[in-house]
Amino acid sequence: MYALKPERAEDGTAIDILLDHAFGANRHERTVYKLRLGTPLAGLSLVARKRGSLVGSLRFWPVELDRGADAVLLGPLAVDPSLRGQGIGKALVAKGLTEAARSGYGLCLVSGDPAYYRPFGFVAADPLGLALPGPVTPGHFQVKELMPGWLALARGTVRPATGRSERAA
Ligand SMILES: CC(C)(COP(=O)(O)OP(=O)(O)OC[C@H]1O[C@@H](n2cnc3c(N)ncnc32)[C@H](O)[C@@H]1OP(=O)(O)O)[C@@H](O)C(=O)NCCC(=O)NCCS
Repeated sequence: MYALKPERAEDGTAIDILLDHAFGANRHERTVYKLRLGTPLAGLSLVARKRGSLVGSLRFWPVELDRGADAVLLGPLAVDPSLRGQGIGKALVAKGLTEAARSGYGLCLVSGDPAYYRPFGFVAADPLGLALPGPVTPGHFQVKELMPGWLALARGTVRPATGRSERAA
């Protein structure tokens, strides 16, 4: 069995190893890393542990749009290859989304496989007038409304949040 816990500062090295393995050491060149500045959102970012070892990670980052609510960017998400297919990834995403909504964020954005994220309620973001600050795989940029009404207001290119204090989750 595994446990989901808030990420701690001392988890950073184990998470880097997990992410390098999952996405490659050149992962920082991806467009979404332009939005992953500073430290991930404390409280929302989660790890999965099994018998004390870190076996999964899901991070969130505060972002802004030209119009609309405070939003979070979900990702990266990775699970130890030896433990995939056991529900750890879905559990991390479900808990993270619940906590993000509870913390008052209106929207959650992600760049990822639609087949994985659609069941959580994500929909294609480009047709809704939202954009990322660079290229991503077509169809991978998605958005989920966390608070009713915010998706209809949201417009523009996503950028790192500035001028707003991080919320305590
Ligand atoms: C994607 C990942 C986090 C899933 O973690 P996991 O703990 O194995 O996922 P779960 O056990 O909760 O879910 C497994 C289901 O997701 C599906 N799935 C896994 N990766 C997928 C992907 N990239 N696209 C679509 N579906 C995917 C599996 O086929 C499985 O489907 P099923 O429930 O119908 O059998 C894990 O495979 C991983 O770390 N991959 C490398 C990093 C990565 O690609 N992250 C981005 C995710 S878009």
